[in-house]
Amino acid sequence: MNFTHARVLSTEEVYEDTYLQWYSAEEIVTPARVGQFVMLRCRSDEEMDPLLPRAMSIHRTRTVAGELQWSLLFYVVGRGTRWLAARRSGDQVFTHGPLGRGFEIRESSSNLLLVAGGIGIAPLAWLAEEGVRRGKNVTLLLGARNASLVYPAELLPPEVEIVVSTDDGSAGRHGLVSEAFAEYLMWCDQAFACGPNPMFRALAEVRRQSGVRKPAQILMEERMCCGTGICYSCAVFTRKGVRLVCKDGPMFEIHEVY
Ligand SMILES: Cc1cc2nc3c(=O)[nH]c(=O)nc-3n(C[C@H](O)[C@H](O)[C@H](O)COP(=O)(O)OP(=O)(O)OC[C@H]3O[C@@H](n4cnc5c(N)ncnc54)[C@H](O)[C@@H]3O)c2cc1C
Ligand code: FES
Repeated sequence: MNFTHARVLSTEEVYEDTYLQWYSAEEIVTPARVGQFVMLRCRSDEEMDPLLPRAMSIHRTRTVAGELQWSLLFYVVGRGTRWLAARRSGDQVFTHGPLGRGFEIRESSSNLLLVAGGIGIAPLAWLAEEGVRRGKNVTLLLGARNASLVYPAELLPPEVEIVVSTDDGSAGRHGLVSEAFAEYLMWCDQAFACGPNPMFRALAEVRRQSGVRKPAQILMEERMCCGTGICYSCAVFTRKGVRLVCKDGPMFEIHEVY
């Protein structure tokens, strides 16, 4: 884990209230793996409010002129994310990372099924890229409340098959992403999901009812104060006892939690 002032390279609103922000600070991602996250202080060094840093998944990486850069994809919900969205090229954000346990793609898996609920696409875009790079077949089930909250397909590798579902039917299939999951589950060797807790519950139920118990990893979110296993604000009950999302996760096998 490294601590640094990461320099903002660009900030762009890519769809409704959702920002793509690129950073320069190689030391944050040089040891990072897909599904890990960073903690960002959402204020200047002189201010004290908001006191606690905010957790964000590493969305993607890229190499530009020999420099490894990384990005966030975030939805504005409150003070911290509003402050981040206002950062411009050259601004600095105090950051520590990479943190937590990321996704694990098995060598033996050929077909990867990714399930994103809303802003849960943030870490899955990198996983989709990684799957394609390793020669896997990748299908992404992309769920959103409505058409204006759907992650743009052109930002994903063309090899990825994308199936969009919206709650109101304004884009793609009309319904919950868990309904599409029921149809695609048998095809995959491994499933990976990120989204709200009710979505995980629904996916776990579909998996149980399928009778085949495909391996499925989820990336969980809890309110986090430290991100490093000190404060216990992110404790969750699992079948193996109490676990910390920041340190034991955020990746868990779905059956450990649901
Ligand atoms: C490991 C991890 C990775 C994350 N990755 C991303 C990401 O890639 N993109 C992204 O947009 N968001 C991500 N989040 C959620 C993000 O941390 C919160 O949206 C952010 O902390 C909100 O800060 P705020 O100051 O804007 O909102 P606040 O003013 O603190 O809160 C506004 C509202 O958001 C809710 N909220 C705040 N934090 C969380 C949280 N951690 N989980 C659920 N609800 C929350 C609050 O209950 C409140 O209703 C991640 C969270 C975790 C734990
Ligand atoms: S956020 Fe402090 S222990 Fe997990």
